[in-house]
Amino acid sequence: MTGSRPRIVVCRWIPDEALALLREAGDVWVPDPDRALPPGELHEVLAGADAAVTTLSERVDGTFADAAGPQLKVVANVAVGYDNVDVPALAERGVTVTNTPGVLTDATADIAFGLLLSATRRLGEGERLLRARTPWSFHLGFMLGTGIQGATLGVIGLGQIGRAMATRARAFGMNIVYSGRRQAPADVEAQLEATYLPQDELLRTADIVSLHCPLTPETRHLIDADALAAMKPTAFLINTTRGPVVDEAALAAALRDGVIAGAGLDVFEQEPDVHPGLLELDNVAMAPHLGSATVETRTAMATLAARNALAVLAGEPALTEVTP
Ligand code: GLV
Repeated sequence: MTGSRPRIVVCRWIPDEALALLREAGDVWVPDPDRALPPGELHEVLAGADAAVTTLSERVDGTFADAAGPQLKVVANVAVGYDNVDVPALAERGVTVTNTPGVLTDATADIAFGLLLSATRRLGEGERLLRARTPWSFHLGFMLGTGIQGATLGVIGLGQIGRAMATRARAFGMNIVYSGRRQAPADVEAQLEATYLPQDELLRTADIVSLHCPLTPETRHLIDADALAAMKPTAFLINTTRGPVVDEAALAAALRDGVIAGAGLDVFEQEPDVHPGLLELDNVAMAPHLGSATVETRTAMATLAARNALAVLAGEPALTEVTP
């Protein structure tokens, strides 16, 4: 610490409200103007940090913590997912890791449902047609999509965001099945009228499969060529969790060959790159990782991260700690 004020390194821009909170308590470094620092430069800036506020752009591992030094107490990741953080490596060094659950649940479910509608009702494709000034006229067979009322949504991972997605789907008249590591409590199942299925059965029966599990070694390529082949040829896949949960090359091939009908993707395996095969296809709706991208949500996420950092610096328990 510099005197009694802690050094807080904010690795990428965060909303002003959160910066202001941090500035009340410490000396804050933040890139200005905002940019992604190459690891060498980031590690130099980290030297002497008591707290770091990170985003998905940073790989936070033992090297990151060592660059900061032994006084580093907390890494507050501004995201609910923390696959960019090597939590055990930080725990070994006595560093608390926090994430931002809860505050982005609705925004992310909104994007997932938006992609579901965009893919099934061909909204992106229709807009591309108009922007290309392609001649068109209304007729009864023009650009027909797939209705979702009475269709079955298969949620993989019925955590907070999966439940919010299921709630939206219920409001649109869909039926819910789900799979995951464990069965949800009976009251959650009852409220969503959701049925727990083994994943292979979910893949065989769902009309739309939506992914809401975190990226872990177990879920990497959970949806591979075999999983896609198990889905109905009329089915759609929605991914708003992390790109590597899906084998993107296998998905591009499946969409091209009609193995499944369509997809809606907010996340990609090698962001910011998108598999070139996907870019060729009309039956995939895409967004550039916008799940939590609203002013309100990003402010809430950054503010929660700031409060987490400040709590740990003050010797108090973090609000939302990630445990190894
Ligand atoms: C965004 O992708 C998050 O994990 O918060």
